[in-house]
Amino acid sequence: MPNWTRACATSELLPGEHRVATIDGVRVAIYNVDGAIYAVEDLCTHDGGELAGGPLHGHEVECPRHGARFDLRTGAATCPPAYAPIACFPLKVEDGAIWVRDDRWDD
Ligand code: FES
Repeated sequence: MPNWTRACATSELLPGEHRVATIDGVRVAIYNVDGAIYAVEDLCTHDGGELAGGPLHGHEVECPRHGARFDLRTGAATCPPAYAPIACFPLKVEDGAIWVRDDRWDD
């Protein structure tokens, strides 16, 4: 099982903000939506664009390239041109920081 990786300090991620961290070689976008924290792969399933920096619409992030939207709570694609979900990662808040791990390849 991969270890937790420190993504950022909680003080660096205020409501409405996002940060990008590299977790096990994967770009992960971490969002604070009204105090709820979400970590998703920073990779649009339409054409590989980076999601970070795209506008937030409630719990959905819009890809800045062609406008696909994804629900940060589930990873589900909610608006074309993307149809496949993005990866969501487990996270924890501990010692004043946000920790993320990529559990996709766990047994
Ligand atoms: S790369 Fe994201 S909508 Fe096209």
